[in-house]
Amino acid sequence: MKIDHIGIATHGIDEALRFWRDALGLEVTHTETVEGQGVRVAMLPVGEPRVELLEPTGPSSPVAKFLEKRGPGLHHVAVRVPDIRSALARLKGQGARLIDESPRVGAGGCLVAFVHPASAGGVLLELVQPQGEHSTHTTEER
Ligand code: CO
Repeated sequence: MKIDHIGIATHGIDEALRFWRDALGLEVTHTETVEGQGVRVAMLPVGEPRVELLEPTGPSSPVAKFLEKRGPGLHHVAVRVPDIRSALARLKGQGARLIDESPRVGAGGCLVAFVHPASAGGVLLELVQPQGEHSTHTTEER
């Protein structure tokens, strides 16, 4: 397992880039809108792991609700696993509270599933299993 990315909730990616790209010097390698999760994301590698800036696409987005409650900041930590279904089965067997019982398609066409913060020390945990290059569920913006 590896850290895949750190998700950070923002009111607007463009404004957040003034810090992460312009001031800190990271590079944006990927942006896309993940309709299923109601977010626009920008990926900025820091070594192999990435910072994932999240911007809600509308008021019903889970990230919009997070921003309303907590304001901008750390939203989730994502761990890359080789087999997401077996990782979910293992967690379920251990009594962990899962937000997603089965994986769905996330940013970059990866299979993703979220584990509830109540089972992960107060941190929203995302499991990520990379897939092939092809994904029809996402919109490339740049
Ligand atoms: Co993520």
